[in-house]
Parts: sequence; structure tokens; C-alpha cells
Amino acid sequence: MDKIQRIQQLKEEKDVVILAHYYVDGQVQKLADYVGDSFALSKLATTVTRQNILFCGVKFMGESAKILNPEKRVIMPDITADCPMAHMVAIEKIEQIRKQFPDVAVVCYVNSTAEIKAHSDVCVTSSNAIRVVKNLPNKEIFFIPDNNLAQYVAQQLPEKQFIFNDGFCPIHKEITKQNILDAKAKHPGAPVLTHPECIDEVLQVSDFIGSTSEIIDYATASEKKEFLIATETGVFYELQQKNPDKKFISVKSDQICPDMKKITVDNVLLALENLEPSVELEEEIRKKANAPLVKMLELAK
Ligand code: 13P
Ligand code: SF4
Repeated sequence: MDKIQRIQQLKEEKDVVILAHYYVDGQVQKLADYVGDSFALSKLATTVTRQNILFCGVKFMGESAKILNPEKRVIMPDITADCPMAHMVAIEKIEQIRKQFPDVAVVCYVNSTAEIKAHSDVCVTSSNAIRVVKNLPNKEIFFIPDNNLAQYVAQQLPEKQFIFNDGFCPIHKEITKQNILDAKAKHPGAPVLTHPECIDEVLQVSDFIGSTSEIIDYATASEKKEFLIATETGVFYELQQKNPDKKFISVKSDQICPDMKKITVDNVLLALENLEPSVELEEEIRKKANAPLVKMLELAK
């Protein structure tokens, strides 16, 4: 029996559902039951019926699944796979902003630790941030941790007053306007599809801005044959699966998230055999972090 067959067998035997994000390696996406963007995966985590969830992604994703499903066991093939941006705001800063602006809504990108979520009013993902913030009654918005997504959302909602934080995704931040211009010059007519974690001057020269699944949907619906992609290269797997006759080109050669790539077929197999390592959270933090996630799911409807 090969590794993939063994994984399928263990999944059934141990009542496990495998969820994966579009940024993990294609070989891992291939063996998952569901692959999605951060929002789809959070929603899915609330509806799966199996007792155990094996999450192929970074830690904040596994934590979100655990926060929403305390009675389930959430397993991560590599618990050290973590998103650096998830830590890029201090709790003291949130408290200080709350004192300074008593009517503020603390809006937390899902790429954040459980502790940061526990100090926030509502969560958002890149695919629902505009809708969720628009639906909030508050005028003042402290958007954490990502500064780039915050700037993008603020531009779409001029009626709100944003307070920015200086967090960023190290992978998307490295993509420059020059990368886009060079790629456009080499491939004239190919639209640039960009993730909103990129810096503003990159967004300004892009043709479409969206989450991973929005980028995939856009390319799939388009009649064009060639696309320039400004996000992590994991999306190429699904782009190519859905569009075998289309060509996808990275605007920069090394758009790779090393933490997402820590998840491998081998550590998925090992995690299934042992049902470990599991995500564990203090109940008080879990409860507090649950409210902003639930509010996101409601406001994003
Ligand atoms: P989305 O899949 O929601 O676009 O998120 C991108 C991301 O950075 C996940 O870490
Ligand atoms: Fe975090 Fe960026 Fe990796 Fe997404 S791509 S997990 S935001 S470091």
C-alpha cells in the first residue's frame, strides 16, 4: 500500500476530515477532502461532521477551527507552521487604542493568534473584509494586524475612519511595482491577479484584487489564456487543475511561504497515525476568541 492509500485508509478508520489551504503544496492539496481560502475553511470547520479535523495550513487556521469546534480534535501535521503576521500587534496596543477611541471597533484579520482574536470585536478574511467592516455600526476601525489589507479596505470604505497597524505578510510585501511592470512588459495583455496583502502601489497596477479563491474564480471565468499571479505559488495547483488550457505566471520568482510548505505528505501521514500534534487552547481564550469569529460568519452572510 502506498502513502496516499494509507492516508485514505487512516482517515476512514480514525474519522478524520482533511482541510487544506491553497498555499500548501499541491501534493497535499490533492489528498485533502476540502481545499479553500481562509473564509471557506472557517465556514467549513463549523459544518464538518467527523470527530477529528486535520488542518493542512498554518497555526492560526488550526486554532480558528478549534475555537469554533471545541469538542473536536484539531490536528496539525506541523504545529510549528506559523504565520509571522499573526503576531504583529501587541495586546497593549489594542488596549491603548480602546482607551483613546472608546467607540472603536477592533477588526482582526483572521491571520492572527487566538489571543489577539480574544481582544478583538470581529474577525475578517480577505474575501469578506469589505462587507464585514461596511456592516459594522462603528465609524472608527482599528484594523489589525495587516496594514496592507487595512489600506485596501479603507480605500473602499471612505465613510469609515481607519486606525492602522504596521503588520504585514513578508511574502506579499516583497512583491514590487517593478515586478508587475516587468511581468506586464514580458506578457502584454495578461491580466495581473493580486492578493490584497500586497502593498498599495502593487494593487494600483493590478487588474483584479481578491482572496486566493477569488483569484481562482476570476481566472476560471475569464476568456483570457494567460495570467500574471501576485500571490503565493500554492494557488497554481488549483488554477492549473481548473484551467488546464490556461497559463499562469508568477510576477516574481520566489513567492513562497516557507511555513505553508512545512506541510508534507509525510507529516500528514504521521499526524494521522498518531492523531497528533493537536491544537490546544486555554478555555478562557478560546471562548473570547469565538465571539469575533462567530460575528464574522454572521456579518459576512
Ligand atoms: P486567503 O486564502 O483568505 O486569501 O488568505 C491568504 C493567506 O495569507 C492565508 O495565509
Ligand atoms: Fe502568513 Fe503570508 Fe504565509 Fe499567508 S502567505 S501564512 S499571510 S506569511
